[in-house]
Amino acid sequence: MTSIKDSFYAELKSVNSLNHLSDLKVKYLGKKGIITSEMKSLSSLPVDERPAHGKKINDLKTSIEAEIDRIESELKNRELKTQLLSESIDVTLPGKYTLFGTEHPINRTLSEIVDIFVKMGFSIEEGPEVELDYYNFEALNFPKNHPARDMQDTFFVSDNTVLRTHTSPVQVRGMEKRNPPVRFIAPGKVYRCDADMTHTPLFHQVEGLMVDRHITFSNLKGILVAFLHQMFGAETPVRFRPSFFPFTEPSAEVDIGCIFCKGSGCRVCKGSGWLEILGAGMVNPRVFEYVKYDTEEFTGFAFGMGVERIAMLKYSIDDIRLFFENDIRFLRQF
Ligand code: PHE
Repeated sequence: MTSIKDSFYAELKSVNSLNHLSDLKVKYLGKKGIITSEMKSLSSLPVDERPAHGKKINDLKTSIEAEIDRIESELKNRELKTQLLSESIDVTLPGKYTLFGTEHPINRTLSEIVDIFVKMGFSIEEGPEVELDYYNFEALNFPKNHPARDMQDTFFVSDNTVLRTHTSPVQVRGMEKRNPPVRFIAPGKVYRCDADMTHTPLFHQVEGLMVDRHITFSNLKGILVAFLHQMFGAETPVRFRPSFFPFTEPSAEVDIGCIFCKGSGCRVCKGSGWLEILGAGMVNPRVFEYVKYDTEEFTGFAFGMGVERIAMLKYSIDDIRLFFENDIRFLRQF
């Protein structure tokens, strides 16, 4: 009996897993286990020896069971601890985070421009970027073979199709769709074969058009001055210079007092004290004829501006290409 006990304890010492322990349990307490067969062999003993021997086996069985239970809970505890340890979270580690984008400075400037005109009652009109020669030039009074067509470094898609060189074709499309009064702006991408510090082959313009009875140059001036004051500050000086566009007559180039040197002359305004901001004019009656508006009854004005140019001035950016390089260090500043 003592030898069974000794060998059990000896084996128990080397147990280091629950599996191993359950093997040991089977070996001693199982149906064919050592203790069980010891019990069975009681019947072969003389009757008077049975109670004493039976008690010994029972005691041994009880203590083996108790030992196994004890080791089992010890092993379970240890397993739980290692599991918890392996699953523990180091709250001092930096978290996983998502990089949030910011609005592109061009989109931001574009929405600022659009918002100002929407508040003044202009709606928004769109047109195709791949445009017919008819809308980009002809209906805007650029005669065929007129040198003004070369003025705009056009990308030709085919003989009569171009990438629109300005947003002015949307004027014509917008007027074809409805009768006066009309008052809309047309923001969008335009294309010219040109590339340097201040020009990219793709850039953005916002066109504006207002047609009604009794529209005069003063209305044009009033709208544009109100816009420029909201965009660049109420104190900004504005001036209109005579200019030429085939689709407006008279035409003007609109300047603001240089926002960098306040007019005293600097590198950005090339010493002039003025910055050219947009082109504008009274809609040429020839254009009205193309869209079948009555030129005796209606007058109107139109204007167009480059979004990149305005963003460059607003944010003091001296190279237009920065807008298109997508350098995150540049874009994060906005
Ligand atoms: N479309 C002209 C340009 O791209 C700008 C403009 C628009 C001028 C409307 C007058 C009226 O240069």
